[in-house]
This record gives sequence, structure tokens and C-alpha cells, in this order.
Amino acid sequence: MKHKYQNFTIYIENDYESLSHTAAKIIAAQIKERPSGIFGFATGGTPVGTYKCLIEMNKANEIDFSQITTFNLDEYYPINKTNSQSYDFFMKENLFGYVNINHEKIHIPNGEAKDVASECENYECQIADAGGIDFQILGIGLNGHIGFNEPAETFQTFTHYVSLDTTTIEANSRFFESVAEVPKSAITMGIKTIMMSRRILLIINGAQKADIAYETVFGSITPRVPASVLQLHHDVTIVLDREAAEKMLPRI
Ligand code: GLP
Repeated sequence: MKHKYQNFTIYIENDYESLSHTAAKIIAAQIKERPSGIFGFATGGTPVGTYKCLIEMNKANEIDFSQITTFNLDEYYPINKTNSQSYDFFMKENLFGYVNINHEKIHIPNGEAKDVASECENYECQIADAGGIDFQILGIGLNGHIGFNEPAETFQTFTHYVSLDTTTIEANSRFFESVAEVPKSAITMGIKTIMMSRRILLIINGAQKADIAYETVFGSITPRVPASVLQLHHDVTIVLDREAAEKMLPRI
């Protein structure tokens, strides 16, 4: 079901499968509209189903990735690209390895960079040189983080190095052998980098995200809930499953 609330277009789907189909259809429509557009990709468990649908659509010749340029939101730091938990590896495993994308047009912050500060600066420059992001896909952390912009006193603007919250390290430990193996820091696009995207798609799944989904749309705009800044963006689409939408439903 499609709802409109202020700057948000909100799709509420019955389950993860239909959420993934809807999100993939929105992305596919954008790729068709801008075949050589600049697309921001996200990692995490949530977009995996969406990426599976995109792979199927690409196999069926319904979408063509060959001209697009991509920038991923974030990457652990330090981490080797060969580490199966690196976001570089994740993107190959879940999307880029299976579609007709031009691998020279893929950008992911370099978790192996010697100098992290210049890697951040360089990444931001590459986005600017490409003309900015046309369409940014986002997931959301339980604490409201987008990319790896953790709750803070102020919004961090451009691509930067960040220490991860204990809650994020714990949440992401499900992908690692143990909590001890989760990197404690990362490189992430900043809030301004994300907000400068022309269009944003936020995907939220599961009952455990119902509170943060509600805060994102109806809460105060505060760096304590980084995703709340999306209330200030002019073009945000949110796709949720029914459980994640549970709390916001009475208000939309
Ligand atoms: C990770 C990523 C985020 C992602 C979030 C949610 O930490 N850095 O970009 O949105 O976690 O992940 P999940 O979809 O697995 O809940």
C-alpha cells in the first residue's frame, strides 16, 4: 500500500519478499530513467532480497547495469577486501558479481587504505567529480544510523572515519564468528553526502525496527537519531514490511 506523508512516499508491504520486490522495482525504474546515473548502494541484511530481485531482472534483460556508476555508503576500517565480512566482498557476493556492471565504475571506500583521512577526502571528491549521487539506497541501524553515521552530538557532514557504537558492533556480530572479530571503526559517507543525493530509498524490515522507523519519520530531527535528518530531504521513498511499519501505521 502506498502512502504520502510530508516529504515521504511510504510503501508498506506484507512481508520481506514483497518489500524486496517493491524496492527492486523502484531501483530498476531509476536505472531505466537514468541508464548512466550515479547510484549509491548499501549493505546489511535488509537489501539482500532486493539485490536478488535486481539480479533476476538483469538476467531477464529487464535492466542494464552497464552504464551506471556506483558509490557504496561505507566500509569497515581497517579490513581486507578478501575478508568475507568486508563490504567490498558483500557487494560482489550479493550483487556486483552477478550483473553486467562495469567494474571500473564501482566505488567502495577502501578499507585497506594506508592513510584513512586522505581516503575519506578522496572518496568525497570522487563523488563530487561524478556530479553527485542521483539515487541513494539506505538501510537503517537499530540506533538510527544511516551508513555508519552513528548517533552523535552533531551531524557529521562529509565522508569520514568513525568509531562504531557498541550496539552496532553487537548487532553486526551476527555476521562474524564472534563480537571480538567485528572491526571497531569504519569509513562512511557523511550526512551531508547522503542528503545531497537527488533521491533516497530507505528500506526497513522487521518488528525490531518499528520504533526506529517511527522515530525517523515522526521524531525530532536530531543527530541522536541520524536517520531523522531525512525529514529535511525533498524526495525520500521508504519501503517497509508490515511489522516495521506497525507503529507508524496509525499516523499515515
Ligand atoms: C550496517 C550498515 C548500514 C546498514 C545497517 C543495517 O551497519 N553500515 O548501512 O543499513 O547496518 O543493517 P541490517 O539491514 O542488517 O539491519
